[in-house]
Amino acid sequence: MDVIEAHNLYKSFGPVPAVNDVSITVKKGEIFGFLGQNGAGKTTTIRMLTGVLIPDSGTARICGIDIQQDPLEAKRHMGVIPENGTVYADLTAEKNILWTAKCYGMDRVSREENAREILIRLGLESRKDDLVRTFSKGMRQRISIACAIVHSPPVLFLDEPTTGLDVISRRLVIDTVRHMNREGSTVLITTHNIEEASALCSAISIIHKGILIATDSPEKIRKQYDTSGFVEIAFEQKIMGRTLMTGGISRVEPMGDKWRVYTDDADRAVKDLVKIAEQNHLKIVSVATSTPSLEQAFIEMTEGA
Ligand SMILES: Nc1ncnc2c1ncn2[C@@H]1O[C@H](COP(=O)(O)OP(=O)(O)OP(=O)(O)O)[C@@H](O)[C@H]1O
Ligand SMILES: [Mg+2]
Repeated sequence: MDVIEAHNLYKSFGPVPAVNDVSITVKKGEIFGFLGQNGAGKTTTIRMLTGVLIPDSGTARICGIDIQQDPLEAKRHMGVIPENGTVYADLTAEKNILWTAKCYGMDRVSREENAREILIRLGLESRKDDLVRTFSKGMRQRISIACAIVHSPPVLFLDEPTTGLDVISRRLVIDTVRHMNREGSTVLITTHNIEEASALCSAISIIHKGILIATDSPEKIRKQYDTSGFVEIAFEQKIMGRTLMTGGISRVEPMGDKWRVYTDDADRAVKDLVKIAEQNHLKIVSVATSTPSLEQAFIEMTEGA
């Protein structure tokens, strides 16, 4: 079942469209990543999907409910962590969560139980009675997440939830997203952190200048660019780069105390390099292969596009 369905969304704030004919489908149980550079149209798309912004054209359905025709019912099915988290600075951490839970119509017992569990999960229990105005950015972001998940929504939208967070807070947020997903939430997350998307998401879309330029599994997107792999090798002895040039090697570059050898066929290159080392009586100190990261694929896709 498709939990998020967007058809031909279009939004323009001026002569250039911010979102241009974007269609997305996210299946139940998926963690879907939405990637793009600054200004690509990620937030604008999320705002249309969550009923904050009315599209110029196109439609979106959340759990089968049309967001424009029945926004209240559609919103009942979603938790949203907006780009600039919205929390009540003059309420305590716990009251923020309880108040949000009340707005979703949860009964008192579930409100209190869920709030307690979430405060612990997000490492905020010891600060639950403090006003949110006294919180750091990372802590506010965690409260924003707590409020979005308190009603165990079937669909969770997160707009760059980890931007600006330290490693520990980031881990907490990612673990919470994974937990919510295991508990049954379908997730759409935008991020700049491509490796994070790669580790978290089963499918990603890349948006560039308002247009979707790719939708696939992170692995498949990465593989499309699998021709520019390299091998890094270090020898005990000093050598000339040209010593390493053989048939399958297109370029050799020094990298600190290593040599980076560019090739289409890492397996063959490693075998050739071992032969070269034997012929020249060189001692290999280290050797490592590398295939392109998703980040490289992303840069190649969006460069000059
Ligand atoms: N309310 C608005 N009024 C005018 N222009 C807007 C508005 N909201 C977004 N835009 C424009 O739409 C384009 C897409 O912006 P959007 O915020 O969707 O990008 P983004 O992908 O979320 O970027 P970032 O990674 O920086 O958050 C940008 O050119 C932006 O200037
Ligand atoms: Mg944004």
